[in-house]
Amino acid sequence: MSERVEIFEVGPRDGLQNEKRPIPTAEKIALVDTLSRAGFARIEVASFVSPKWVPQMADGAEVLAGIARAPGVRYAALTPNLRGYERARAAGADEVAIFGAASEGFSRANINATIAESLARFEDVAAAARADGIPMRGYVSCVTDCPYEGKIAPGQVAEVAEKLWGLGCYEISLGDTIGQGTPETVSAMLAAVSQVVPVDKLAGHFHDTAGRALDNIEAALAVGLRVFDAAVGGLGGCPYAKGATGNVATEAVVERLTKLGHDTGLNSAVLNEAAALARAMRG
Ligand code: HMG
Ligand code: MG
Repeated sequence: MSERVEIFEVGPRDGLQNEKRPIPTAEKIALVDTLSRAGFARIEVASFVSPKWVPQMADGAEVLAGIARAPGVRYAALTPNLRGYERARAAGADEVAIFGAASEGFSRANINATIAESLARFEDVAAAARADGIPMRGYVSCVTDCPYEGKIAPGQVAEVAEKLWGLGCYEISLGDTIGQGTPETVSAMLAAVSQVVPVDKLAGHFHDTAGRALDNIEAALAVGLRVFDAAVGGLGGCPYAKGATGNVATEAVVERLTKLGHDTGLNSAVLNEAAALARAMRG
């Protein structure tokens, strides 16, 4: 029997956050509504960050209000601080995510905080999410390479992942933010992180800058990961990581996983429809 691997769709958030053209809210809603028919259990649809930092995500509440919620799908949002958490809750996000980094340089550039300061901020979000019974995911960025600091030691990633896990995240997503990881560096990083967070609570989040994302997913599968983030149409990038191109494309991940004998439970025809929409939205 083929083994299930879940794809966590991040296109409407990670994919669109970096687009230069202001994308009309209605187009974002249409993309999410198409994705909702594809069979995902979780779709990241918004981030409640400062609109001065990421203008493209300023309409998160309108997106959440406008989508047709499909039963069994959890609609997720990024929340950098308590303010973001409260906005996400008011907008009806089903789950939230705190996002830190394994490198000080990226932490400062992305969220204007040291790693220690960011963890202190996340404590407030974690306490509120716990009180409200809202599932909280955790991201670690720059798990192999950082645009400011170069190579990142696996121990640094493990340290931050362990802290996010300790804050109550139900899953830790490990981000190769600038797509410079290799199967070797990814495996070494996962060997360290899986010492401190159970491997079935880890997700892989690969950007495809150097065209190695699918090979990195294979390396992570070998370690035991069964959840991968991807963006339909290969949308994406990070405004605070120069050179970061799109997330690995969801449809490419499905194809590779299928070849490897895994089942994603996704409907390829609907996925292709969403990919066409996503590509048309790109600047
Ligand atoms: P700051 O400037 O240090 O914070 O930003 P501040 O508290 O001084 O706030 C600045 C202004 O933003 C203030 O407004 C606040 O009220 C407002 P003003 O008084 O100037 O009018 N503000 C907010 N407004 C709305 N919602 C909020 C909020 N918080 C403050 N939640 C901050 C700190 C964290 C807010 C900022 O740095 C920020 O928003 N950063 C987010 C950057 C971002 O979204 N990056 C992309 C997502 S991460 C990513 O893509 C990586 C990932 O995909 C994994 C991977 O690939 O590795 C997850
Ligand atoms: Mg990302």
